Amino acid sequence: MSNPSPAPLVGAVKPGHIAIVMDGNGRWAQKRWLPRVAGHKQGVDALRRIVEACIERGIPALSVFAFSSENWNRPADEVSGLMDLLAMALGREVPSLKDNGVRLHFPGNRSGLSARVAQGLEAAERDTAHNTRLVLNVCFNYGGRWDIAQAAHSLAARGEAITEESLSNAMALSHVPDPDLLIRTGGELRISNFLLWQSAYAELVFTDCLWPDFDGAALDRALAEFAGRQRRFGQTAEQRAQAESLAAHAGQRHA
Ligand code: FPP
Repeated sequence: MSNPSPAPLVGAVKPGHIAIVMDGNGRWAQKRWLPRVAGHKQGVDALRRIVEACIERGIPALSVFAFSSENWNRPADEVSGLMDLLAMALGREVPSLKDNGVRLHFPGNRSGLSARVAQGLEAAERDTAHNTRLVLNVCFNYGGRWDIAQAAHSLAARGEAITEESLSNAMALSHVPDPDLLIRTGGELRISNFLLWQSAYAELVFTDCLWPDFDGAALDRALAEFAGRQRRFGQTAEQRAQAESLAAHAGQRHA
């Protein structure tokens, strides 16, 4: 259900899908003379807060970058720390996510993961499959280039034509619309191989706030920045203003 085109009629005030590069855990820990994995642990707490904040604000989809295809290059103890953290977070968080109406997905390359982790992800997806309040995509062993390549590979294997639509539908996030807003914490100004295809028209918000410090107020600042943007989807500002005013009038007539 990807939406590469056409543009939605009204410049939505609230994003339907937020994507987040949760950066800055390591620096948060180092500032406190703690091991990097302590920052990742705080990162899980921040993620829990932001899931709750998204539910409170009526955001229907949230995608976070928890482990990238490139994170395997980190020191072995940090990689194993992140794997253990995922296993621990699955055990501790899934029951309350389930009770709170969250549907979990773990987009990413499962073949690189241990059988124990892969089975845990599958079980969490199965246990929350009936939920509809918030779709939470925890992208794990994910890379934007991997996603485009695996989608092209699966279409080719099925003998299907490669089009924008068929590629979108074969990608790991085909169950949600493309993100409207992509936030990166931690002060870096890049996308780092996150949702490359899906972020084609996402509004980008960068903040110096380190991920463990990100909270509802920081989310609200990003949402305010989003609401102040004019999304043009390749059209002129005048075309967008006209389309938005027509849609607003139509909305008033139907109110
Ligand atoms: C980037 O910060 C963050 C990560 C590589 C991992 C993100 C993981 C979490 C927030 C925890 C949630 C994870 C699971 C397993 C559910 P960094 O380490 O690059 O920070 P730095 O730029 O300050 O070094």
